[in-house]
Amino acid sequence: MRHLLSAGDLDRDEATLILDTAAELAQVGDRAVKKLPTLRGRTVVNLFYEDSTRTRTSFELAAKRLSADVINFSAKGSSVSKGESLKDTALTLQAMGADGVVIRHSASGAAHRLAGWVDGSVLNAGDGTHEHPTQALLDAFTMRSRLGRLEGLRVAVVGDILHSRVARSNVLLLTTLGAHVTLVAPPTLLPVSVGTWPCEVSYDLDEVLPKTDVVMMLRVQAERMRDSFFPSVREYSRNYGLDGERLERMPSDAIVMHPGPMVRGMEISAEVADSPRCTVTEQVANGVSLRMAVLYLLLGGS
Ligand code: CP
Repeated sequence: MRHLLSAGDLDRDEATLILDTAAELAQVGDRAVKKLPTLRGRTVVNLFYEDSTRTRTSFELAAKRLSADVINFSAKGSSVSKGESLKDTALTLQAMGADGVVIRHSASGAAHRLAGWVDGSVLNAGDGTHEHPTQALLDAFTMRSRLGRLEGLRVAVVGDILHSRVARSNVLLLTTLGAHVTLVAPPTLLPVSVGTWPCEVSYDLDEVLPKTDVVMMLRVQAERMRDSFFPSVREYSRNYGLDGERLERMPSDAIVMHPGPMVRGMEISAEVADSPRCTVTEQVANGVSLRMAVLYLLLGGS
């Protein structure tokens, strides 16, 4: 594997290898000196054209824990504002010797385009509404750590599926790993193509929750919306928000996940977000180990 562009590119063995490697590398985080020499002399460029808190910082920390040199490039404040294209920006950074390029971009397909232009490995850190494969991998890692398995797990992904790269990558990866996914959303927030996805679809959260091991709540991505997709925030929350009362209807060992950023009071109540059954900060911590594993497996060879 040279690039990580789509969760759908991983077969079961490859995905399991990444999760197992992340479990090994997680131990580095418990040491006094949280560093391995594995990627010494290698250069990782973080190329971020869209805002990010979790993905950008965890890729940076992961690369540093593996002793790589790290260049953080943010489109804001760069020559992108002068009209420089993605290709010319990428070739400029490659000329500085990038072995790996982590890219986040608002255009679906940007990571695939980049992979055709640069010599190093490309890691998709979120391209438009298309994919976010390392998020799906860290989510699977978190489910496996908390619940001990992925095979047969019943996962509900709830909310703005239409604009969610997290939902698409999770459906592809979790299905490969033997879990059953149900997407729950109002019809207006489901993609037209959802019938071809390898999952179930429901419009009724209350009907799905009692038979769910994992509920993954998604933020409504207002920044990608030009139309109105539901009558009001209040109505959306009433039908598709997770509050303490709804959490009680789930099996007692079921967990609540969220990729972040959360909008408390909309898709998730503060009570649920702060509950020990909510794994949101665990997901962030696991994201560092998972991204270490991906960088190690892609860039660690000779
Ligand atoms: N989950 C996620 O991708 O968060 P950021 O946008 O903060 O990176």
